[in-house]
Order: sequence, then C-alpha cells, then structure tokens
Amino acid sequence: MHHLRIVYSITHTTVHRNQDNQVDTWKEARMPPIHFNDRRESVLVTGATGFIGQTLVRALLADGQQVTVLSRDPRRAGRLFEGRVKCIGGMAELPADFKVDVIVNLAGARILGWRWSAARRKVLLDSRLGVTRKLVDWIARAEKKPRLMFSASAIGYYGIQKQGDDTGLTEDSPPQPIFMSQLCQAWETEAQRASDYGVTVLRMRFGLVLGKGGALPMMMLPIRLGLGGPLGGGRQWLSWIHVDDLIRGIAHLWNTSDALTAAYNFAAPGAVTQREFSKTAARILRRPSLIPTPAWPMRLILGEQADLLLEGQRVVPDGLQNAKFGFLYPDVQSALKSLY
Ligand SMILES: NC(=O)c1ccc[n+]([C@@H]2O[C@H](COP(=O)([O-])OP(=O)(O)OC[C@H]3O[C@@H](n4cnc5c(N)ncnc54)[C@H](OP(=O)(O)O)[C@@H]3O)[C@@H](O)[C@H]2O)c1
Repeated sequence: MHHLRIVYSITHTTVHRNQDNQVDTWKEARMPPIHFNDRRESVLVTGATGFIGQTLVRALLADGQQVTVLSRDPRRAGRLFEGRVKCIGGMAELPADFKVDVIVNLAGARILGWRWSAARRKVLLDSRLGVTRKLVDWIARAEKKPRLMFSASAIGYYGIQKQGDDTGLTEDSPPQPIFMSQLCQAWETEAQRASDYGVTVLRMRFGLVLGKGGALPMMMLPIRLGLGGPLGGGRQWLSWIHVDDLIRGIAHLWNTSDALTAAYNFAAPGAVTQREFSKTAARILRRPSLIPTPAWPMRLILGEQADLLLEGQRVVPDGLQNAKFGFLYPDVQSALKSLY
C-alpha cells in the first residue's frame, strides 16, 4: 500500500501524508463555477482540509461565501486556503453571538487504510461523533441558530449487498448490524440532534467520491499499470458520485425549498458493477483489463474492510432526483473521462 502511494505521489503533483495527518494538497481540475446563494452567507465547514472539503471550500470562496473552518491544525488550514478563511481549532473559539447560516460537517478519520482493529474502529467512531457532538452543543448555545446543516454519512449505512442482489437501495432501505452501517447510523443520529434547535439537517450518504483526490487515484494505479481487472467476482455493485456533482448537489439543496430534514443518497444514477467499472477505466486509460484481483488476499489484508470493495451496494439517488437535481456526470464513462 505504502509503495503504491509513493509511486502515485511521484507521478502526480499531489502531496500525501499519513492517515491521521492528512493534508493531501491538490487543486481539483476545471471546477465549474457553482452558485450556492445570491446572499453572502456565513458557512462553517469541518473536514475542510480533506479531499471533499477542499473542493467545497474553494467553490464557496469562488461564489463569494464567507467561510469558517474547524480544523485540528488551524494554522495549516489557514495556509492551505491562503488566509481567505477564518480558522478555528475548537468550537469553544466561536462565541454564542457568532452568526453561522449553514454548517457542512465532513470531519472524520480516514475509513480506508488501516485494518479495522478495535482501536481503529474507536478512532473512526470518536472522530465523527466527537466533532458532530461539539457542533450540536455549539448550536444549542448559539443565539441565532443556523438554518441548514449538511452532515456527511456514507452509503455504508445500508451495509453490504451480496453479489447477484441487484435491488436498488433508496433512502428508506434499512441499515444492517455491521460496523460500517452502525458507524453511519450513530453519526447520523448525532447530527440529527441539531433539528431539535430548528436546524434543517441533511444527512448526505456519499457513494465512492470520484475526483483527483480520495480513493480513485489508488484504484486507477493498477489499471494504469495494466494489472487492473475486476476485484473479487466483479459482479458486486459500485455506487459512486463525481466530486463536482457532490458539491453541485449541496449547492442545489442549499437554495431550494425542497430541502428537508432527511437523508439524501449522494450517488450517481449510473451505479456499475466492479467489472464494468474496471472495463470502463481500462478503456479510458487505454490499458487491458485482464487480471482479476482475487478476493482472498484482500480479505486477509483488509479484514472486514474488504467488504467495502468486495460486496458493493447499488444505491439510487431518490432524494436528489425528487428535489429535481440534475447530474452533470450520471454515468461512469463521462465521470472518468472528465478526470483522465
Ligand atoms: N471520499 C469518499 O469517497 C467518501 C465516501 C463516503 C463517505 N465519505 C465521508 O465524507 C467525509 C469527507 O471525506 P474526504 O474524502 O474529504 O475525507 P478526508 O480527505 O480523509 O478528510 C477528512 C477530514 O477530517 C478531519 N479529520 C481526520 N481525522 C480526524 C480525526 N481523528 N478527528 C477529527 N477530524 C479528523 C481532517 O481535517 P483536519 O485535519 O483539518 O482536522 C480531514 O481533512 C469523511 O468523513 C468520509 O468518511 C467520504
């Protein structure tokens, strides 16, 4: 894993750090302008220094919004955004009369990577629940409450779908008693408490987010080397969303009366099987897609985490589509083409 990261950082201008000290610095390519609101609003973002957060903050700044960033390392965050955002290291630094209109909560230790030992599971949970709890506690103290809170979750909420099960999962599909699902449930429950204070809470269940950062570069590396066949059996579903559509989806819900306290699947309508994904990616990189990666070494190395790759989910974005959101990248071919 580590040497693959090194190869990737040599071939790209991205700077990787270790899992819990992650500032991966890059500029998303050709980000189309995204309009959040005619009014200049005060926006508080957690996880702003991450892959999705950086893309979001840059889009907010380009749209003239006023951004405050909560980071474990506010000075580093300040440098990252060239001094254009207010940075805080803890919610105690925000007085109760500080006006926040919208919160976007993305913070959390990285899911993919270390094997999920008991200690790692605790970090994954505590990082998410801890930040979210502090946000809601601040909302309770705030003199004027924010109007919206977007809070990250993941399609892992739905647990795993066995190969061959092609049922489309909507926001109403049930969770499962496995770690990823329980983590998402607990995270969403914590965020949902903000609605007790009149805040509209949008729980965003992200599929695999495709962009210049995140997991995609690592997934593309074996394909680039001509080694990238399907993972495991290849029939498992992969639900994904282009990072530009993710930010556009937030902007859409930001300014529509359709935005409700509810869960929203942030996944493109064009979920694909692993096999289809590998074939499309190989075609775009003009490489053969031949050698399947067998399931057993992945299970050996990754443990339960391998389920994320070997047992996918076919997710349907009912909430966004009912809110009349139009995807710029509805299919995996157009999404990958825009990135490679
Ligand atoms: N990318 C995806 O495909 C995907 C899919 C489903 C769900 N999600 C969820 O969406 C959120 C954003 O994803 P991302 O890919 O942008 O994540 P990322 O690049 O890993 O960034 C997450 C941010 O969370 C903060 N963080 C990391 N460890 C932390 C800890 N132990 N305690 C508190 N804060 C911590 C960091 O900010 P500071 O260092 O500035 O504090 C970091 O920049 C994550 O919570 C992730 O689980 C992502």
